[in-house]
Amino acid sequence: MKEERKKAARDLWGGHFAGGPAPLMEQINASIDFDKRLWAHDVAGSIAHARMLAAAGIIAEAERDAIIAGLERIRDSIAQGEFAFSRALEDIHLNIEARLTEMIGEPGRKLHTARSRNDQVATDFRLWVRDAVDRADALLRALQAVLIDRAEEHAATVMPGFTHLQAAQPVTFGHHLLAYVEMFGRDRSRFADARRRLNECPLGAAALAGTGFPIDREATARELGFDRPMANSIDAVSDRDFALDYLASAAICAVHLSRFAEELVLWSTPQFGFVRMAEAFSSGSSIMPQKRNPDAAELVRAKSGRVIGRLDALLIVLKGLPLAYSKDLQEDKEGVFDAADTLELCLAATAEMVRGMTIFPERMREAAGVGYTTATDLADWLVREKGVPFRDAHAIVARVVALAESRGCGLEDLSIEDLRGIDPRLDEGVFEVLSVEKSVTSRKSFGGTAPERVREAIAAARERFLEGAG
Ligand code: ARG
Repeated sequence: MKEERKKAARDLWGGHFAGGPAPLMEQINASIDFDKRLWAHDVAGSIAHARMLAAAGIIAEAERDAIIAGLERIRDSIAQGEFAFSRALEDIHLNIEARLTEMIGEPGRKLHTARSRNDQVATDFRLWVRDAVDRADALLRALQAVLIDRAEEHAATVMPGFTHLQAAQPVTFGHHLLAYVEMFGRDRSRFADARRRLNECPLGAAALAGTGFPIDREATARELGFDRPMANSIDAVSDRDFALDYLASAAICAVHLSRFAEELVLWSTPQFGFVRMAEAFSSGSSIMPQKRNPDAAELVRAKSGRVIGRLDALLIVLKGLPLAYSKDLQEDKEGVFDAADTLELCLAATAEMVRGMTIFPERMREAAGVGYTTATDLADWLVREKGVPFRDAHAIVARVVALAESRGCGLEDLSIEDLRGIDPRLDEGVFEVLSVEKSVTSRKSFGGTAPERVREAIAAARERFLEGAG
């Protein structure tokens, strides 16, 4: 091991590094254990760079061909799991370059002309994050599709809507699910914004100042699918705001997932009994035979903390860091990898939970009537039918609710005499508006919970979120 470290240091840093690093130095410094995940992007970046070097006359065409053939063989061997990664070679960039030179000799030693690991890693990582954005988008879209399907089944299923987690007004379950479809739609648009901003190419910024070689940054940017080269070489190697954009989008998305997971946990308690998680997404208890725990939902709820933490951690790494590159920036990757793994798992698991859960409309309907949820409808009736100012109507209905409460009955169980005793303007007409179904059907304003609006919203959501490319 010691010899390997010594040799690597001599090969990489030249004559003034004779001794090689201490084992602890290698341990703190080497990133290969995690940045090997950049291998495909590193190879792609190097191939684009080699093509550009040859086109610009900086290396010969035969050298370019040897480099590309070698890199393709390395790519295959990594894909097959046959590549031997070495910690002495620090990171993915040096591992691949060293192996290339071992394979093809001198041309391999020319690949690093007119670039630095600083622009190389910034390029690789942008490419990786761009793929992660695309994966997140596809998973979010799949989750929206499942939610929309289930919303359609339950466009008219009445459930209690809550504020303060107190029964507030009846809504439909379809409407409630569509609320999440909107949130996940905004998450997709945040990822899309992040993608648009990150899609500029750092390659060619070299160490920080650009290079004296006649490189063609447009060409490498184009080949790697970037919109353009980054305008400032110092910025190109220094900032990781593209990773922050990704993490911020991921953290917000994870928070949406967590709120939904919390509702699944609540809804699947015997006290609510609105849904039951599929057996495949719950676990039993080793002591209480009756239990069916919504573990996957609980973990989705908890894992949002991890994603938020990764955003915090990178903000803190970057804060106060002078321009341009510092090794601190190597700390950008593990958090992003972990956040992406976590988010992708949570998105996929949530979609499966929603697909497989059993929904109990009778329980929802029953709960929808508990807690005087149609009191607002009664107040609205007084306004609409009797011209009572809303504030006065609110006060009258508060007395009606108090009476029903003291009797331990529902609003619809009060007699017409009871009602008249509170206010003479209350007549038989009120019974028209006291049922939860009527309440829901009447909420026809745009974006409201009336089943006909929900069906329209479903059609619109399919068009906005699911149609077209994706
Ligand atoms: N492994 C390094 C990183 O992830 C690559 C860049 C190293 N650059 C340097 N000047 N030491 O940041």
